[in-house]
Amino acid sequence: MTDRAQKVLFQNYRTQPVALVRGEGTQVWDADGKRYLDFIGGIATVSVGHANAQVRNAVLEQTKLLWHASNLYFTEPQVRLAEKLTRLCFADRVFFCNSGTEANEAMIKLARRWHVDSGHPERIEIVCMHESFHGRTMGSLAATGQPKYQQGFGPLPAGFRFVDYGDARQIEEAVTDKTCAVLLEPLQGEAGVITAPAGYLKAVREACTRRGALMLLDEVQTGMGRTGKMFAHQHFGVEPDAMSLAKGIAGGLPLGALLAKDQLAKVFTPGTHASTFGGNPVATAAACAVVDLLEGGLLDHVRRVSEVLQSRLAALPQATPRAAGERGLGLLRGVLLSEDLAPLVVAKARELGLLVNAIGDRVLRLAPPLTVSESEIHEATKLLAQAIAQA
Ligand SMILES: Cc1ncc(COP(=O)(O)O)c(C=O)c1O
Repeated sequence: MTDRAQKVLFQNYRTQPVALVRGEGTQVWDADGKRYLDFIGGIATVSVGHANAQVRNAVLEQTKLLWHASNLYFTEPQVRLAEKLTRLCFADRVFFCNSGTEANEAMIKLARRWHVDSGHPERIEIVCMHESFHGRTMGSLAATGQPKYQQGFGPLPAGFRFVDYGDARQIEEAVTDKTCAVLLEPLQGEAGVITAPAGYLKAVREACTRRGALMLLDEVQTGMGRTGKMFAHQHFGVEPDAMSLAKGIAGGLPLGALLAKDQLAKVFTPGTHASTFGGNPVATAAACAVVDLLEGGLLDHVRRVSEVLQSRLAALPQATPRAAGERGLGLLRGVLLSEDLAPLVVAKARELGLLVNAIGDRVLRLAPPLTVSESEIHEATKLLAQAIAQA
């Protein structure tokens, strides 16, 4: 299959030479029947495990009823999911789309429109973070603090400026009466799994509130239980004005969401923003099942097993000096290497039956399904130690 794929697909991905055909829980199998432990979980999307029975059932039941209707009409799963999500956080309303980049695009538009409608059209500047990642459409790309992703696609939309993630002093200086919003991740996943220092999100919140700017959180990677709380900002005692979600929300089906308080959400009046597939009944039915699982004990499980994963990864440097430590929150973890070996470790781990992902040359990212068991964590970390030593 890989030969065929290379002939007909765009070559924009560094796809591993493996064709996956089946999954169950944390395990996947390739076309030759080889089994792997999936510790990247569709890049943090397969939140409740491959072929999860409750999600599958919700999807099957919904496909017997209605596959799609657009937003010309209401559908029950979309409304039910919005009710569940708003009950779990600061937000009053939800706009559904299909991906993280779309959710961020909507969030940026919402923030700009809010200030225009409030009589402050001059507040256009969005303060973003170096090394951030918000997606690949023009707006979310302009907000992404990694020039390598922007190269050759200019001109990008104007009005985005960047500060160093974690430096509260820079935020104080950057947020002015021209600022529309500060946009950031509670934990920078694509930058190499970097957690904000204590007090940073609170400092951002305070600067935004004081100066009349909005605080926008990109929880595309960190939301939906990934860090051991339903949303990562709930670790830090802050509430944003709006938040984007995607990745794990529907257990691996495409769905994105923008959540906001009522007074902000109301600036998207009919016709101002839209998505044909947004809130598709099958994807939202799947997401309802995901939320039910998270609330039905899975969040507690995440907290428990993430401690096991954290301590196993922290012990890796004892097994091999090539491992230099680990960091992260919950089941989103980065393993640091002391040499430029990450892509080689990924290949070696794959050979040994473990799927992980490289961020640059010195960080491996782990984001297994939230349903991962302790014994799978033991097996995976043993394989990882071997892969790092042998790469
Ligand atoms: C924090 C963050 N925001 C946005 C995105 C883009 O999401 P998508 O690929 O679903 O468009 C990603 C994807 O990795 C992400 O990690």
